[in-house]
Amino acid sequence: MRSSALADVAGAESSRALDDVRVAWLGKKGRLTAELKALGGLPPDQRREVGQAVNTLKQELAQAIEARKADLDRAALDARLADETLDVTLPGRAVDPGGPHPVSRAMARILDIFRGLGFAVADGPEVEDDYHNFEALNFPEHHPARAMHDTFYLPDGRLLRTHTSPVQVRVMKEQAPPVRIVAPGRVFRSDSDQTHTPQFHQVEGLLVDEDVTFADLKGLLATFVNEYFEDELEMRLRPSYFPFTEPSAEVDIRWRNADGSAGRWLEVLGCGMVHPNVLTHCGVDAERYTGYAFGLGVERFAMLRYRVDDLRLFFDNDVRFLAQFR
Ligand code: FA5
Ligand code: MG
Repeated sequence: MRSSALADVAGAESSRALDDVRVAWLGKKGRLTAELKALGGLPPDQRREVGQAVNTLKQELAQAIEARKADLDRAALDARLADETLDVTLPGRAVDPGGPHPVSRAMARILDIFRGLGFAVADGPEVEDDYHNFEALNFPEHHPARAMHDTFYLPDGRLLRTHTSPVQVRVMKEQAPPVRIVAPGRVFRSDSDQTHTPQFHQVEGLLVDEDVTFADLKGLLATFVNEYFEDELEMRLRPSYFPFTEPSAEVDIRWRNADGSAGRWLEVLGCGMVHPNVLTHCGVDAERYTGYAFGLGVERFAMLRYRVDDLRLFFDNDVRFLAQFR
């Protein structure tokens, strides 16, 4: 019985098989348990001797099972360690880092400069209504200037804002002068070529206070352009027309060719003195206050700074293009 039991223990190849062996010999219905139960049927002179022998075997077997279990556990651990080996001395795998999109970089740079000049950042919705995008900005219903904006309309009559100027209206209706804000964001127009995309970004600027003049506007824009480009790029103000400013101008910056010679002009922003009708409409006393406003094209500033001559590259998201801005 002893050699048979020890052979069973030695033959168990897993902790589960070992447990079966334990139950078969030492369990409630196990073979050794049965021997002990049968002691009563033996002649009295044999009971003591047989009982001692069975108990000794029981202890020996329990110890053998413990020892076998420790062996199996150690073998399992060794196998796992071998399997999951990690060589921490190997060099790491290089991670290819991304970087901010050039338009995001230009935007961050622009806002940084205006914050430094004392402008707070304001926000407005991308889905606008006719009132804020046009009417409150002095575009009457059949005004031809509406045709300059190729507007995307929603089925419910609302529209995707065509410029950030509606934020001027929202801010002036909420805040009494002095007002000094910039409003960055996406705008949408059905428009596409080398310098126009259907979705682009503008930063609106608005300053309303007493005694604000066109000279203040020009000075601010010159300061901004010099700081933004860190370079004396040529800038010109060209008379223009917007229903919500009077007088109005557009600002062009001149490309510099690779050989340093002057290239063609690129329009970067529209601006002017806030039209008295707009001030009045927003509840601002147009006798006491004047203001200037501007709306600049962020992609155009990115094009000039990073020397990208086709705006659409910014939206193709070709990684070979984007990787150059990391
Ligand atoms: C406006 O949108 C006026 N709201 C700007 C303004 C604000 C004038 C406040 C006066 C006072 P304009 O349509 O010219 O104006 O656009 C302003 C700038 O956005 C342009 O100078 C140009 O830099 C940029 N822009 C216009 N259309 C596109 C386009 N499709 N893709 C990329 N940039 C564009
Ligand atoms: Mg324009």
